[in-house]
Order: sequence, then structure tokens, then C-alpha cells
Amino acid sequence: MADFRTIDDFEVAGKRVLLRADLNVPMQAGRVSDTTRLDRLAPTIKELVGKRARVILLSHFGRPKGGPDRANSLSQLVRPLCHTLGGIAVRFAPDCIGPQAETVAQALGDGEVALLENLRFHAGEEANDAAFAEALAGLGELYVNDAFSAAHRAHASIDRLARLLPAAAGRLMQAELEALGRALEHPQRPLAAIVGGSKISTKLELLGNLVARVDLLAIGGAMANTFLAAQGVAIGRSLAERDLAETARAIREKASARGCTLILPEDAVVASELKPGVAAATVPIGEVPADKMILDIGPASVRTLVQHLRTCRTLVWNGPVGAFETPPFDAGTTEIARAVAGLTQTAGLASIAGGGDTVAALVDAGVADRLSYVSTAGGAFLEWLEGKELPGVAALKRRA
Ligand code: 3PG
Repeated sequence: MADFRTIDDFEVAGKRVLLRADLNVPMQAGRVSDTTRLDRLAPTIKELVGKRARVILLSHFGRPKGGPDRANSLSQLVRPLCHTLGGIAVRFAPDCIGPQAETVAQALGDGEVALLENLRFHAGEEANDAAFAEALAGLGELYVNDAFSAAHRAHASIDRLARLLPAAAGRLMQAELEALGRALEHPQRPLAAIVGGSKISTKLELLGNLVARVDLLAIGGAMANTFLAAQGVAIGRSLAERDLAETARAIREKASARGCTLILPEDAVVASELKPGVAAATVPIGEVPADKMILDIGPASVRTLVQHLRTCRTLVWNGPVGAFETPPFDAGTTEIARAVAGLTQTAGLASIAGGGDTVAALVDAGVADRLSYVSTAGGAFLEWLEGKELPGVAALKRRA
């Protein structure tokens, strides 16, 4: 039995269900530029509507400071939501508490949907304020949290509110928790992790947690340079955090003490500068020219990593292994993404990826829908990889 309730545990017909969503979607020129979060939320809303619940959507949007502002109004999301829901009408309340919210909530009929204005227009949201949470709770009878990507925030609609009403995970939250549980809590082994990105300093806790749990840890991106430099390898003008050499050595030692195989690049794609289409060369690690910088892992590193992955049953991936947004330095990440997709489809590898850059790289490689699970979360996925208990998940845990 999962330690949180789901929609299956509630009789929702005729009930006002407060559905905490993450509608914090990217916008460009007034349009939603990536609808993934809306698409992944839609099944929960449709299921609740199908069961004749009265659905009241709560969300934050952007990071408004000091009250309402048009740029951060959730009114912009009414049409895209309605479109994603296949034409289901979405009413809008220009405030998330108080008379305007109450009027909209009370007028909702069975199977109807309302969206309330940005929670962060009230300081009580981020302060996890009791009175604000109570005002929200007064609008509904049940609480469903489908915002895993905001679960690392101990805000009123995520933490306190969940304790004031009968609370359950929505289908997206449920899918995220089940996929992440399969990856780190009860994985099929061998379990591998690929961690990329530019700085160890931002991923120290994550590396510390992973090295204690996984059987194989592959490090790429500029953070691999820090590990190489700490071993005395010449890395030319590459980005590295040389002051973290001791930390990098400690992570290596922890890995070897536990029998965790640590994989660093064996060759690299180097160039004089990070610019699209710049002249690049592939060199073995150890032969990086003094005036060049490492911008991607090379083909031999890709081959070695993929060979290792063939022996693994589960993979967690966060962070590109090169400067993937600047071709040709996307090649290593793209090759690995395709290989992971192939192993997932044909060899039963359970592959779980998350984090904004990682998802963008998977989309670029055309394989985002061929991994076992791609998380919608950025910061929440990282905190989960760090081994932290997320407030939004903790608040959903069954209480006696
Ligand atoms: C996200 O986009 O990662 C979540 O919606 C959380 O947003 P925040 O970082 O502004 O809290």
C-alpha cells in the first residue's frame, strides 16, 4: 500500500475538490511556449470532471513580488487550459481567497472547473500562513495535490492546506512518486546515475546521496572537469571549480569504499570558445591543449558509458554531459539520450530523467517519449535526488 491516498480513496461526486496544480508554464509573447505541464495535468482534471467533482484549481505563477500584477495573472492560462482539456469550460476567479473566490466556488456545478488567481499574490502563500491556508480550505471539501514540481516549496497551498482537508495525490503526483520510488527507493539493480551540468557546488548534496545508493555513477558536463583537475589532469582553459578539488576527491573515495563505479570522460571535444559551429577537435583526456576548453564528452566516452548502461537495470539521469545548447557540443548528450531510449525500449532499462536542461536535451534528441519516465519537475526533482523529504510529499503521507 502506498503511504499516500489517491483519487481512488475519495468519493468525489458533487464535492468541491481543491486541486493544487503547477501552472507555472513558460510563456513567450503571451502564449504558452511549452504545454507539457498542462498536458500532464489534464488527465487528473478530466477524471475528476468525469466523476462529477466540482474542480477548483489552485496554482502559483511566476514569482510576483508584493501583490497582484498583470504579467503574473493566471487569467492568461484560462484559454490554454480549456484548449488542453478539449473544450471543457474553465471559470476564473480574480482572487484565490475572499468573496470573489467564494462566489465562484459556490456557483460551481457538478463536473465544472474553476481556476483561482495566482496564490502568490498573497504573502500568506509563501509564508505558509495558517489564516491563508484556512481561507483556501474554506473553499473546498477535499484536497488533491498534483503539483510534484512544486512539492519542494513549504507553501500554504502545498503544506498547511494538505493538513486541513482530506488529502490525496492526483494522477500526475502519483505517477511521479511511483516512478521516483522505482528509481531510488526500490530499484532493480544494477542502478546507474548520470549527473551532468556545470557545477559540482550546486549538486554536492545530490552527488553525496547518489554515491551512497547507486552502483554506477557517470559524471559529465563541466563538473567532470573539476574531478579531472582534482586528479591532476591538465584541462586547459576548461570551466572547473578548482577550490572543490578536495570535495571531488572525497566523493571519489566514498564511491570506491562502497564499490560504486565512478565513470569520468576518457576523451573530450575541445574548442577555443563556446560558440555555435566553432572549429572543434576530439582529444583523449590528458591531451587537452593548454589554450582549449572541454565542451563535450567524446565518442569513446559515449561508447564506454553505453557499454556500462547495457549491464544496468535502472538509470536516473540529471544534467547534460556537454554544452548541449551550443552545437556541435550537443553530440555527446544526444548520443547518450538515443542510446538510453534504445535500451529502454529493447532491453528493459528503467530510465528516469528530470531537470529542465535534461528534458530540453531529450526533446532536442527526439526521445523524450521513449524513456520510462520524464519528470515535469526541476527543483523538486533535484531535491528528491538529494534525498530530501519534500514538504508537499510529506504533507500527503497518510496520517493515523
Ligand atoms: C517550478 O517551475 O520549478 C515550480 O513551479 C516551482 O517554482 P518556483 O521555483 O518559483 O517555486
